[in-house]
Amino acid sequence: MAFSTIEWDDNRIKLIDQTLLPNEFKHIYCDDLPSIWEAIKSLRVRGAPAIGIAAALGTVLGIWNSDAETYDAFETELKSATEYLATSRPTAVNLFWALDRMTQTAEQNKHLPIPELKQALLTEAETIIEEDKAMCRAIGQHGMTLLNENDTILTHCNAGGLATSDYGTALAVMFSAHEAGKQIKVFADETRPLLQGARLTTWELMQAGIDVTLICDNMAAQVMKEGKIQCVVVGADRIAANGDTANKIGTYNVAILAEAHGIPFYVAAPTSTLDFALETGAEIPIEQRAAEEVTEGFGKLTAPKGVKVYSPAFDVTPASMVTAIITEKGVARPPFTESLKAMQNA
Ligand code: MRU
Repeated sequence: MAFSTIEWDDNRIKLIDQTLLPNEFKHIYCDDLPSIWEAIKSLRVRGAPAIGIAAALGTVLGIWNSDAETYDAFETELKSATEYLATSRPTAVNLFWALDRMTQTAEQNKHLPIPELKQALLTEAETIIEEDKAMCRAIGQHGMTLLNENDTILTHCNAGGLATSDYGTALAVMFSAHEAGKQIKVFADETRPLLQGARLTTWELMQAGIDVTLICDNMAAQVMKEGKIQCVVVGADRIAANGDTANKIGTYNVAILAEAHGIPFYVAAPTSTLDFALETGAEIPIEQRAAEEVTEGFGKLTAPKGVKVYSPAFDVTPASMVTAIITEKGVARPPFTESLKAMQNA
């Protein structure tokens, strides 16, 4: 990709401020825990795998200037950093997965002198980034086999390079097909209230030279009825053991519409998004967002002041509506309880 979403740069975290896109392409630097926490919370960095990377690099930031001389003192600081980062956003399991990996890395290297332990944690965060890049490429390769020549794909929110270290998950399927010479087109839902589809997905697809058409969320049914869509491909924030899938609010609507029109509905996600601790999607915590994002998201009041607002940021699509789940290890088909487990152990 032509950009790096998030990276470690000279003792701090460098990331693209996605709240400014597509009007401004600007990097910001986080050099302490509150600034990376705020960047996650306010969606400057967003998308499940990118949130995981931000949490891993944030953990490094949390201990980088530690003066601890014993492992116990160091561990106390590490724990307070990971606990703090865990409060930023609740739905994407990649955040908790990455924090666990960082905690385990510290535990496995507790015999090292503190400066080397810090370095081991940075190496682990950078390994997570490299693994994520490879997973996205593999998702693209597996996913493109599901697309036919001249297909038009509907996607929701942004599951592209901006939502990962590079290349994306749902968009990886489209990038790979395009790079392999398949003729495909994409319809992108704008994705109210924060417009990740309009602002980010169209931006990424246009840069890649992929034919993309923007629609408002409430146009999807009509577009499907007109026969314009051959399949849906979306990302995920957390997938329960049975295949129930949490993704950006409105994804469930799209799944219902796809089922009603007999259109395949595919989820693309790395195995770091699978949460086998949860049997079903009913247990997935759903983030609630501020009312202002609905009433004046981009600086202009579009509802009466003081109106009551309800704003869940994610919804859960039942596994029964998911045709297949594309991971870096292959394409899982129903029943997902068996196929996802087999895939995880492969
Ligand atoms: O609130 P966001 O922008 O972080 O939500 C992002 C999504 O819902 C994505 O579809 C999901 O995280 C997958 S990203 C590869």
